[in-house]
Amino acid sequence: MAEEVKNVAPANFKVTIDNITVEVAPGTTILNAARQIGGDVTPPAMCYYSKLEGSGGKCRTCLVEVAQGSEKDPRPMPKLMASCRTTVMDGMVVKNITSERVMDARNGVVEFLLLNHPLDCPICDQAGECYLQDLSYDHGTEGTRFEFKKRIFEKEDIGPYIQLHMTRCILCYRCVYVADQLTDKRVHGILDRGDHAEISTYISKAIDNDFSGNVIDVCPVGALTDKTFRFKNRVWFTKPVDAHRDCPTCCGKVTLWNRGDEVMRVTSRRDEWGEVQSYEDKPGWICNTCRFDKKKTSDWVIEGVTNINRHSVIAQNKYNGLVMPKETIAEVMGGRDPKLLMDIHDVSGVNDPSIDLSLIEGPATSKTFTP
Ligand code: SF4
Ligand code: FES
Repeated sequence: MAEEVKNVAPANFKVTIDNITVEVAPGTTILNAARQIGGDVTPPAMCYYSKLEGSGGKCRTCLVEVAQGSEKDPRPMPKLMASCRTTVMDGMVVKNITSERVMDARNGVVEFLLLNHPLDCPICDQAGECYLQDLSYDHGTEGTRFEFKKRIFEKEDIGPYIQLHMTRCILCYRCVYVADQLTDKRVHGILDRGDHAEISTYISKAIDNDFSGNVIDVCPVGALTDKTFRFKNRVWFTKPVDAHRDCPTCCGKVTLWNRGDEVMRVTSRRDEWGEVQSYEDKPGWICNTCRFDKKKTSDWVIEGVTNINRHSVIAQNKYNGLVMPKETIAEVMGGRDPKLLMDIHDVSGVNDPSIDLSLIEGPATSKTFTP
């Protein structure tokens, strides 16, 4: 591949990642150097979160091969390195998608992350915007070699608005850092060690801090979910729009996930890495009032439709390369097209628009739609 040079910021360390050279400031990690290049060159990150100090180094999805340590010492690093924790050296050569070793290791990491993770995407609120789901599509296998019982936990309410599904947690620590760095009285953390380790609250205390809802946004999987939105809609049926309000507590810049005119949920705005967007170099964390209490369009000034860049089902085209099985029903029905029983892309009986889901207490169930 021809070498391409990108000058992004005034800096003095040159690092080449997958044959693309970029100049970055000393002290930049390989992951952040790759983010300056962007696209597929950037390793996935399940635990690193640039706005949370100390994050990273837990999940190993960002492993890369350092084929040349630096200009002065060109020896390769013997082991694959966590790119979120390894800083660049001048003249460093890194391989990510061009390394078979990395791809193999990443497949192994995904298999490891899925060991205890339930395959409940069909009923999980995070489906469609879950990083583990995306990683599994890219690196997972269709079977498992795990022959033991998965860890099972009871669901736990963390305060009135957040529910914890510990069975889905990958122990990335992001929520712990949010609680530590954004709220003034952290009451949850990781208890125990090894395969007993779990996120929990001390004596089941509720997190009632104004910014506690941000743990939902940083959770890469469906372990921490918004109780005001749970089971009310699939994210790919909602329409995200950017909106703001004059909030005395937070930046007030949010994404509204609407169904028609109904605001189904409110989240912070995300950047291309799935992290909260920054404004004037400050992360745009949102407060619980904006997130949980402002569920009317009239509460907000609408700016326009959100640009979804991630290659997720929300942005569509995720499954372009998928080979669909041959459609044979019309053949056996004498040429007639099958009548689809569950055309869930249209409004149907299971998604009656006359029912204002945002006003229902708790999740929607079949009873919600029983006349
Ligand atoms: S609950 Fe979510 S954010 Fe917290 S450690 Fe588990 S996976 Fe990470
Ligand atoms: S993102 Fe680097 S170890 Fe998790």
